[in-house]
Amino acid sequence: EILTKFKFDLMDIPSEYASEDDFKASRIAFNAYKKMSDAAKSEGYEIVINSAYRSYSDQEEIIEYYKNAYGQNYVDKYVAKAGYSEHQTGLAFDIGSRNVNVFADSKEYEWMQENAYKYGFILRYPKDKENITKYSYEPWHIRYIGNIPAKIIYDNKPFELTEYFNL
Ligand code: DAL
Ligand code: ZN
Repeated sequence: EILTKFKFDLMDIPSEYASEDDFKASRIAFNAYKKMSDAAKSEGYEIVINSAYRSYSDQEEIIEYYKNAYGQNYVDKYVAKAGYSEHQTGLAFDIGSRNVNVFADSKEYEWMQENAYKYGFILRYPKDKENITKYSYEPWHIRYIGNIPAKIIYDNKPFELTEYFNL
């Protein structure tokens, strides 16, 4: 529950960037996201935020929802315990494409692979890194870590955040 000790500078996400109206994110992360999203749009790619900041109790509700919908096994693989989700920092976003339902199948996902690092984002739960991250591959979940770490991770791919910290 260490995340409850942090106070991130939360702001309301303008609705044109999100699939719902009442999303919040850390200001530093959203400012970077906005630049990325606007750049994507100018090149013909349309990304949208499907989840952003989640409070401790939001996370508890999500756990309950997914448990009822898909079972405990799904929850263990994809959903963090309350107090341990990166979403509670306001630095993580779940991203979708405005054009394709399955994000991993979209051209927006391809674009993100090559461009997200320029704005300080990484794909936090990559394929084939489940043994390190302890979560299943989540093509939609990105985290703001700043431009320099994001570029180092991009340049060394396949590479993930724990491996970066271990350098
Ligand atoms: N889906 C990620 C692991 C979370 O719940 O924070
Ligand atoms: Zn997520």
